[in-house]
Amino acid sequence: CVENQPPQILAGKTITITAGPTREPLDPVRFISNHSSGKMGYALAEAALLLGANVNLISGPVTIKAPIGANLINIESAEQLLNEALVYAPQSDAFIGCAAVADYRAGEVATQKMKKQGDELTLTLVKNPDVIAAVANIEKNRPYTVGFAAETQNVESYAKGKLVNKNLDMICANDVSQSGLGFNSDQNALTLYWQNKQLELPVSSKSTIALKVIEQLAKHL
Ligand code: CTP
Ligand code: CA
Repeated sequence: CVENQPPQILAGKTITITAGPTREPLDPVRFISNHSSGKMGYALAEAALLLGANVNLISGPVTIKAPIGANLINIESAEQLLNEALVYAPQSDAFIGCAAVADYRAGEVATQKMKKQGDELTLTLVKNPDVIAAVANIEKNRPYTVGFAAETQNVESYAKGKLVNKNLDMICANDVSQSGLGFNSDQNALTLYWQNKQLELPVSSKSTIALKVIEQLAKHL
């Protein structure tokens, strides 16, 4: 319905969004992952589409449907996410890292199903690549780069630290100590930080919050 269409402030712009969890395999039937539902990333994709952007949605395994019109790229592991991010980021005006990337993966992935043995099992994990930092440090055609930070304490200092250390342009901080907000919820509240300013987005539905985040982002493109 054209009558209700919001101003197409992102017409001609391409936004790449990562969403959902990653899965880090242990053997052919097992993995390490987290509770990310993908709802926030998918809401951002929908908001960007609504404002006229071309949207690439690089997504880990989730149960929700991608918004119509998004170019969905399915990934499982952090390494696969990095590969796709480095393909799409240089073709994008903005990149939003909303995926809950597993910080570690198995040092060795067993080629056969692991058999149960003693009373204890020790796994050696190795650090995953930092996808958003890699994107933010692309030398040619670097997109405007936005990260997320889900924190249970010291939200402001941790989020600002990530903004600086990862070389981001903007970070959306999520206080996940408040029950019912953030992970796997339909509601969220965020504080947006740039190097020299900040903006509070009070509790509302993930779709309302997503639209506000995308509108803020659009001002910088
Ligand atoms: N991120 C990423 N690659 C990783 C880890 C995180 O791209 N290997 C991105 C997330 O998508 C998010 C931002 O970095 O946009 C912050 O993620 P977060 O988990 O809060 O930060 P970490 O740097 O992993 O620090 P920690 O988990 O120790 O707080
Ligand atoms: Ca992390």
